[in-house]
Amino acid sequence: MKVLITGANGQLGEAFKRSYTKKHELVFLSRAVFDLNDEEQMNQVLLESNADALINCAAYTNVELAESEKDLAFETNAFGAERLARACSKHKVKLLHLSTDYVFDGKRTSPYKENDITNPINEYGRSKADGEHLVLSGNAKALLIRVSWVYDFEGKNFLNTMRKLAFERGGVSVVNDQISSPVYAGVLASDLLLVLEQSLEGDISGCFHYRHEGSASWYDFAAEIFKVFEIDAKLEAVDSGAFPTKAQRPRYSLLSTEKLRCTFDLSKLSWQEALKRCHEDELKP
Ligand SMILES: NC(=O)c1ccc[n+]([C@@H]2O[C@H](COP(=O)([O-])OP(=O)(O)OC[C@H]3O[C@@H](n4cnc5c(N)ncnc54)[C@H](OP(=O)(O)O)[C@@H]3O)[C@@H](O)[C@H]2O)c1
Repeated sequence: MKVLITGANGQLGEAFKRSYTKKHELVFLSRAVFDLNDEEQMNQVLLESNADALINCAAYTNVELAESEKDLAFETNAFGAERLARACSKHKVKLLHLSTDYVFDGKRTSPYKENDITNPINEYGRSKADGEHLVLSGNAKALLIRVSWVYDFEGKNFLNTMRKLAFERGGVSVVNDQISSPVYAGVLASDLLLVLEQSLEGDISGCFHYRHEGSASWYDFAAEIFKVFEIDAKLEAVDSGAFPTKAQRPRYSLLSTEKLRCTFDLSKLSWQEALKRCHEDELKP
């Protein structure tokens, strides 16, 4: 299987670069050579690629900045995703597009299923929700995978922010009233390749939710980071009111993975085990 990976220099794109696979040929496309806002360029690359599939890791992902850069967020996450879906459909390249738990408003208290009504409460979530709709209506064969709270040992993310703050300040206050599930980009990348492979074999398309087993608040996640990475610093649980932000975040956005588990054969890992895996991966030469 020849797979194109877009957004190659982002967090998930970088994790794909580490996911060694003998079985598949991965081709990495940065924004410079594959811009979601340039349909002509995308069509040319797809025409010449002879690829079976494309995993779209490209997106506008700054949740806070999206409140003031709404047009830019929509241009990439909604209309850019639509252009990509159209191009993949035209060149018969199977598209796996990523979306987010932030398409939900967080008012539920049990895991969100794929066909639950979306009702985003920030501009990033609204742009991604529009993108989902445009991708699925423009490309009936597309796979749409929603994930939550992605982190890695590289790049700018919650894990590295905790490590930095603990080192610089000796203590961190973290919110304990937002619940979802942290997802390690390293495991996500290898599971997405399995999902893609099985979806091509079984002609599977549509929306699926992905996460590790179990749920956590940001505070729980931080506490586990301190444990696994052996960080000796103070940790204080606070509620969201302590950190006023421009973008509202859903209070509860745990995704139900029942449909994913019934459809695809993937091994199960708790979010704590995934964090240990992340630690081990970082130590690898
Ligand atoms: N991170 C999370 O917590 C999280 C949670 C749920 C879902 N997701 C979804 O997972 C996917 C991957 O996220 P990530 O964490 O890897 O994001 P990321 O680190 O922000 O990477 C996104 C990449 O997309 C590229 N990009 C932005 N606009 C583009 C455009 N117009 N054309 C081509 N490339 C463009 C960026 O390029 P530059 O480097 O040039 O800016 C960057 O390399 C996204 O769909 C995101 O919405 C992420």
